[in-house]
Amino acid sequence: MLKNDLILRAARGEKTERTPVWVMRQAGRILPEYRAVRNGLSGFKELVETPELAAEVTIQPVDILGVDAAIIFSDILVIPEAMGLPYEMVEKTGPIFRKTVAATEDLASLKVAKAEDLSYTLEAIKMTKQALSGRVPIIGFAGAPWTIFAYMVEGSGSKTFSRPRKMLYTDPELAHRLLDTITQSTIAYLKGQIAAGADMVQIFDSWAGVLPPEQYQKFSLAYIEKIAAAITEVPVTVFAKGAFFALAEMANISCNTVGLDWNMDVKEARKLLPEKTLQGNMDPCALYGTFDQIKSETIKMLKAFEGHPHIANLGHGVYPDTDPDKVRCFIDTVKEYRS
Ligand code: CP3
Repeated sequence: MLKNDLILRAARGEKTERTPVWVMRQAGRILPEYRAVRNGLSGFKELVETPELAAEVTIQPVDILGVDAAIIFSDILVIPEAMGLPYEMVEKTGPIFRKTVAATEDLASLKVAKAEDLSYTLEAIKMTKQALSGRVPIIGFAGAPWTIFAYMVEGSGSKTFSRPRKMLYTDPELAHRLLDTITQSTIAYLKGQIAAGADMVQIFDSWAGVLPPEQYQKFSLAYIEKIAAAITEVPVTVFAKGAFFALAEMANISCNTVGLDWNMDVKEARKLLPEKTLQGNMDPCALYGTFDQIKSETIKMLKAFEGHPHIANLGHGVYPDTDPDKVRCFIDTVKEYRS
């Protein structure tokens, strides 16, 4: 039994005694306690693939920051790896794929991943569940097919992701085949996470903002909907960074919650999405302000969502050089606020 299920009730659109709060990328990045665990290892992947340690860093922000949910420590790029395209995480550079998908022949070495292929994350969820003993819910996650596709075709991060975007014009059939394989893998993986104990799931479409609206509908939202429709067990959140142009379409997605980034207009989102819980959306840079500024920005955000089902968060992941005390100030302000 959960002792704190605020976030699940908010996701289902129920009125809650206060607004629940968590922070995207709360596990890792900002906590010295995370660096301490991480520095003793060969690298990021060892941490992701060692369930006891992944569980430990998943719980750190619950203990240290006081958030209302734990998000399992892993990465969106475990899916391409389970499909047959391994990633490397290069210090200070980010993820790199030595092999990429450029032509139809490249699909031959890829398969639909099964949940068991990612047993290290499933094991980490089980251990986290046990160790938390119901203190807060666990959020499972995966990348949206478009964002995963973007990394598999580009081979790394990019400002423009022009290679994957080019493929949508030069070989849309290949694009759809790859997106479909990613989608099937992601459904299996999320269902595995739920069976292991995830209480809700979030789909991160971090690179939604590089597509024009028409392509976003065809090559991203259509696949997100397949996933959202397949996950009937727990509440689903869709966070499409930069997709302000698709907010109206989000009303038709089978998800409970829509995540907003800091560019998005809260008033417009409330109007377009009356049936959805909204998550977000303070500018992560507001956390570089003074404690007083953080309090007033946080309250301004809470007031903007007042009266609409809301899960407080930043508009994207917390930046790595943010002072954890400033993050705690954001969290405490949400927890103390009463309308
Ligand atoms: O939210 C959490 O705290 C849980 C863990 C989590 C990580 N990555 C751990 C991580 C989650 C939810 C992710 C998601 C993720 N990974 C996304 C979607 C969210 C977003 O920010 O848009 C994306 C695009 C990735 C891909 C990725 N992983 C990149 C581009 C990088 C390098 C730069 C960065 O973001 O730090 C990573 C590495 C990564 N993933 C780290 C962590 C803690 C840092 C690496 C390290 O500790 O050595």
